[in-house]
Amino acid sequence: MQLNLIAGAACLVIALPTMAADVSYRADVAPIIKKYCAECHSAPGAPSMAEFKLDEAKYKKAESGPRTDTYEDLVILIAYPSTGAFMRRLDDGTSPYSGGKPGNMYKSLGETDPERASNLAVLKAWVGEGGWNLNRMTARGDVPALTKEQLDKLKLKY
Ligand code: HEC
Repeated sequence: MQLNLIAGAACLVIALPTMAADVSYRADVAPIIKKYCAECHSAPGAPSMAEFKLDEAKYKKAESGPRTDTYEDLVILIAYPSTGAFMRRLDDGTSPYSGGKPGNMYKSLGETDPERASNLAVLKAWVGEGGWNLNRMTARGDVPALTKEQLDKLKLKY
């Protein structure tokens, strides 16, 4: 009985970080981005998003994406101006408007399916329930513009 209680309590503690409300950039997201994305997104000389946009061809040739190593860099790719870019690239192909296809950075989220799924769950919880949307600020093709209601779901705890 006593042991069961202790085991139950330990499970609770382990389960907590994956529960939506408390996922934070500092504790949960920064370590994932550092481990899985830094190689191509944070090397010395990696461009800011604005620099990247000025000469995309050059950076793509060098296999360098825009910086992702600060909170602010990520918010640009999530909220504005590159609304939804983070979600479009990292989605596993299950979100509306993904066309059933994972984004082209999804494979970087881990070596195995369970590892990718678990990292994606943390990133989704951090973005906020209902905040993981692939829409842009303006409509494109069949994809409608992000709504104010969708935007309001973003959590992005520091
Ligand atoms: C092997 C190198 C590599 C890895 C690892 C990698 N990326 Fe990328 N990423 C790139 C390159 C190169 C581009 C620019 C070319 C393109 O748009 O696909 C890019 C583009 C992006 C974009 C789109 C930027 C835009 O133009 O809107 C996002 C968002 C992104 N990556 C996020 C990530 C995240 C998050 C991770 C870690 C899970 C990651 N990437 C891992 C190389 C990489």
